[in-house]
Amino acid sequence: MMKSSLYALFSLLLLALAQEGKADACTNIGGTCLDYTAYKCTAGYVSGLCAGSNNIKCCQNCDATCLSNESTWSQSDGACTSAGGRCMDNTNYCAGTYSSGKCGGPATRQCCVLRTGRTMTERGYTLIKCFEGLCLNAYRDVGGIWTIGYGNTRWEDGRAVASGDTCTKARCDSLFNYWVDESFAPAVDADIGSPSPDVNQVQFEALVSFTYNVGTAAFHSSTLLKKVQANPNDPTIRDEFMKWVNVNGVPVQGLINRREKEADYYFSVDNSVCTTAVTC
Ligand SMILES: *[C@@H]1O[C@H](CO)[C@@H](O)[C@H](O)[C@H]1NC(C)=O
Repeated sequence: MMKSSLYALFSLLLLALAQEGKADACTNIGGTCLDYTAYKCTAGYVSGLCAGSNNIKCCQNCDATCLSNESTWSQSDGACTSAGGRCMDNTNYCAGTYSSGKCGGPATRQCCVLRTGRTMTERGYTLIKCFEGLCLNAYRDVGGIWTIGYGNTRWEDGRAVASGDTCTKARCDSLFNYWVDESFAPAVDADIGSPSPDVNQVQFEALVSFTYNVGTAAFHSSTLLKKVQANPNDPTIRDEFMKWVNVNGVPVQGLINRREKEADYYFSVDNSVCTTAVTC
């Protein structure tokens, strides 16, 4: 008994050390460990170099040559774009299907066409923008991460937002739409399942707002999702929204307000949205 628990402790320690080593392994090649379902990585992902869930992969740095290759290659992406797809290195997550022969660049740069699923409306985008506020200049968020626009931490090509970055309102809008359309909305749609259960448009939008805030991995493993899948009109879904209000174990008023509004929107108690002003 004693022996086996000591062994368990020892294994945990080894695992922790191995994971530590893994995080360094990614940094050593100049990469960043990211949730590959949430972020596009221009230079491509490498598996096995990051700690945590299998969704966390090492995004290789996209240097000047890589950026210049990307801009050259993307000029031959027409066949993919007109098929409603997006070309990227095929180590990227595609919430749909990859196909070859529609993109510029090497054979590994392929066309991802999203599953046709639930999409956002203008009112849904505005709901999220209301919560996020708009910053035209990069700032550090509470976790110290450089952030711009409506809470975005990465540009479309996967580059991290950096000190001194700026965007016009139109540029911030398109960055925001990119991540919602390419990442958060398809992830939520795929998690809910299609075509059933019968989640209505505002319910879908409230869930995308929630996921934009807590992340795709958290939504994926949440009880909230399980309840939505079982019965989207279950009134206890409100309680599940309200469980996600803590930062470091302490409830935060701004998050309580957001979750209340998201739940109200979800249950169509209040489907109003604000007008987003520049907040910083
Ligand atoms: C850029 O493209 C050239 C020619 O296709 C290729 O040899 C090189 O590996 C690419 N570099 C990067 C960083 O993608």
